[in-house]
Amino acid sequence: MKKKEKTYIRRLADEYRGDGAVPECPHFGECGGCLFQDIPYEGQLALKARMVNDTLGEIGSVDRVVPSIPYRYRSRMDLVTAFGKFGLRRRGSYRVVVDLGCCRIMQEKSDELFKKMRLLVQAVEGYDYLRHQGYLRYAVLRQARFTGQVMVNFVVAERENRLGDLLDAIKGDADSITLIHNGGLADLSYGEILETVKGGHIEECFDGVRYRITPNSFFQSNAEIALAMYRRIRDEARGRVLDLCAGVGSISLFIAGTAERVTGVEVSAEAVETARVNAAGNGVANAEFICADAKDFLSSEPGGYDSIVLDPPRSGMQAKVMEMIDRMDAGKIVYMSCNPKTFREDVAVLRNYRLESVEAYDMFPQTPHVELLGVLRRI
Ligand SMILES: C[S@@+](CC[C@H](N)C(=O)[O-])C[C@H]1O[C@@H](n2cnc3c(N)ncnc32)[C@H](O)[C@@H]1O
Repeated sequence: MKKKEKTYIRRLADEYRGDGAVPECPHFGECGGCLFQDIPYEGQLALKARMVNDTLGEIGSVDRVVPSIPYRYRSRMDLVTAFGKFGLRRRGSYRVVVDLGCCRIMQEKSDELFKKMRLLVQAVEGYDYLRHQGYLRYAVLRQARFTGQVMVNFVVAERENRLGDLLDAIKGDADSITLIHNGGLADLSYGEILETVKGGHIEECFDGVRYRITPNSFFQSNAEIALAMYRRIRDEARGRVLDLCAGVGSISLFIAGTAERVTGVEVSAEAVETARVNAAGNGVANAEFICADAKDFLSSEPGGYDSIVLDPPRSGMQAKVMEMIDRMDAGKIVYMSCNPKTFREDVAVLRNYRLESVEAYDMFPQTPHVELLGVLRRI
């Protein structure tokens, strides 16, 4: 986050803190995971609406803010194992790791497993990400809310399994355990699958649609909020639907029952393979998945879509891609975004669409982040 943005958020936080709230987490203030635990939840929602409106400027404003459960919502935590610590980075400092005893935004089962893993992880050599030396970089804990299944990924810098007793100790607590190799300089919590110790995937279930989640593939961070958003997307995206940035097919398969047909485009081969498995597992015959960069896919000037669903990463869709989308003749665009700034930039490129509504969903309580759902209609 840039300094100007940090100052803006700090100023807003002071405004909405009101009489304050009692933080649930003993690490609040030091840990960089949460910034807003001392702001009453209603205040956090008002703050986010203001923040989104300030960011969107002349292109639109928030019609409603959809609240979440304020704690215990996260389905994924990337826990750092460095400098003899096991936790998250200190607020405002990438160089320091806070040794956490618990985490209140993690779901209960994974928080319990985290506590159990603490001493065992200390026995394994961590990874100094400043000098690029050592072995264990991250322990990633993922939990599917509606099935309760738990996944643990150990991200290691060397091509060997040196986890010893740690694996035996947690085998009964996790449905999937995987070693992932990342030997590069980039600080990433995903990479090549080195060894599947147990399972290899977990499953989530949204309104009867079952999703396989593999170690490297994306799945939404707050399942209840994601489900609320998918229901809204299903109401809007009808007919022949193009789902760009489709991940493991989460949106495509959720809307397949009401759409005529769905084409999901996704750059990650692992996610596309999983999306196809998910389609077969759910008996969905009207959804296809294409492994391609969205820009390359659109370069072939595909047409014949009634609705386009967009769900890009924080970097957004990019102007070139939005220009191509603008030239297609879809009646509606439904844009799910985790970054109001890139949402505004992308929407501003469109000449042939009018922003009909914007909803903010509190996907990330206690943090400054928020998810948007914009509906755009062809003029
Ligand atoms: C925010 S996730 C959304 C996934 C899915 N829609 C869901 O709801 O779970 C963004 C996805 O976009 C994919 N992605 C990133 N850049 C892409 C690109 N240029 N073309 C196609 N997919 C891309 C990522 O691999 C990731 O799966």
